[in-house]
Amino acid sequence: MTGRARDDEGADAVDEAEQLIEVDGVEKVFTVRRRAGRLRRVREEVRAVDGISFRVARGEMVGYIGPNGAGKSTTIKMLTGILVPSGGRLRVAGIDPAQQRTRLARRIGVVFGQRTTLWWDLPLKDSYELVRRMYRIPDAAYRAHLERCVELLDLAPLLDVPVRQLSLGQRMRGDIAAALLPDPEVLYLDEPTIGLDVVSKAKVRGFLREVNAERGTTVLLTTHDLTDIEQLCRRVMVIDHGRLVYDGGLDGLRAAGGGERTLVVDLERELPPIEGVPGARTVRVDGPRQWLAFPASQSAAPLVAAVAAGYPLVDLSVREPDIESLIAELYAGGGMRADAAGAGGKDGRAL
Ligand SMILES: Nc1ncnc2c1ncn2[C@@H]1O[C@H](COP(=O)(O)OP(=O)(O)OP(=O)(O)O)[C@@H](O)[C@H]1O
Ligand SMILES: [Mg+2]
Repeated sequence: MTGRARDDEGADAVDEAEQLIEVDGVEKVFTVRRRAGRLRRVREEVRAVDGISFRVARGEMVGYIGPNGAGKSTTIKMLTGILVPSGGRLRVAGIDPAQQRTRLARRIGVVFGQRTTLWWDLPLKDSYELVRRMYRIPDAAYRAHLERCVELLDLAPLLDVPVRQLSLGQRMRGDIAAALLPDPEVLYLDEPTIGLDVVSKAKVRGFLREVNAERGTTVLLTTHDLTDIEQLCRRVMVIDHGRLVYDGGLDGLRAAGGGERTLVVDLERELPPIEGVPGARTVRVDGPRQWLAFPASQSAAPLVAAVAAGYPLVDLSVREPDIESLIAELYAGGGMRADAAGAGGKDGRAL
C-alpha cells in the first residue's frame, strides 16, 4: 500500500482536494409524533443538527464527540448520503452526498459500531469477496489490501467463520476491514470501539493509525471513549444539542473545561482522607480506597510521590475525565476558552 499521490496535480487542484469534507451551515430537522394524552398525538420538530460548519482536510484524523443525542450519528449519515440535510451545504470530495450517493459510495467507507454491514450467514472471507465484486476492486489491489488488513487486524483465524459466530470485537475488526477494502479516501467510524475489550480496542486503534499513515485515509471518528481520541486524533470537534461547541486540540478542550484527572489510591487500610498533597484534593473515600482530583494539566508523578511518602500505598491508577464530564465542566466553567496552545499546531476554537 502506498500513500495517494497528491503532488502530481496542479496547485489549484491540490488546494481544492485538501478540503475533503466541507460542511456549511448544515441542519437536520426530524418531525416526530409524540403522544399527548390518551389519544392525541402532536407533531414535534427535533433539531438533531442545528447549523454546523467545518472543514476536514485530506489525511486528517478528527474526533467527533458529544453527549448522547448530540447529533453525531445524524451528521455522519448526512455525510454518507443516507440522510438528506434540511438545510445548508455539504460536500465530500467535491460530491453532494445526498444527490450522488452511489458515486460517493466508492470513495467513502463507513462503520457503524452498533450494526454490521457484513453478511450474517457467510464466512468473513465470502463477505469480502462480495465487497470486491460490488466495488469492482482489481484483483491485485484487493489481494494486497486484504492481506494487509488480515495481518494488522489479526483476521486470519476468522476468515472461515460465519459472521454470526464472531464476537463483537472480532466482528468489528471484520467490519472495519470490509470498509477499507475498496481503499476509500474517507472513513467514517461511528463508535468503532463500543463494547470492545482492551485488547480489541488496541488492535482497532493501531490499525486505524497505520491506515491513516500509510494510505493517507481521512478519518472522522465518533466515540464516547476519550482514549480513542487521545491515541488517534490531534483535532477534536465537540457537538452538543446539534451545534458545534469546540474545534481544536484535545489539550485545549481539557484546558477549556478545566478538566480534572483523578488519582485513585489503594492504601493498606482504611484511613482518614489524605491531606497535604499539593495540587490535589481528596474527593472520595471508600474503605482503603481514596480518590484525589487534580488538574489535567498537572503531572501525576509528584502527587504519587507525596502520597507514597506519607501513606501506606498498595496500588494506584490515574483516571482521565470522560467525555461527558469534560463537556459538563466546559459549561460549568462559563463557556470555553480558545485552545491557544493548539495541540498538534492547530488552533482550537471556542465556537
Ligand atoms: N430518524 C430519526 N427520527 C427522529 N429523531 C431522530 C432520528 N434520528 C435521530 N433523531 C434524534 O436526533 C437527535 C440526535 O441523534 P443522533 O443519533 O445523531 O445522536 P448521537 O450524537 O449519535 O447520540 P449517541 O451518542 O447516543 O449515539 C436525537 O434527539 C435523536 O433522538
Ligand atoms: Mg450515535
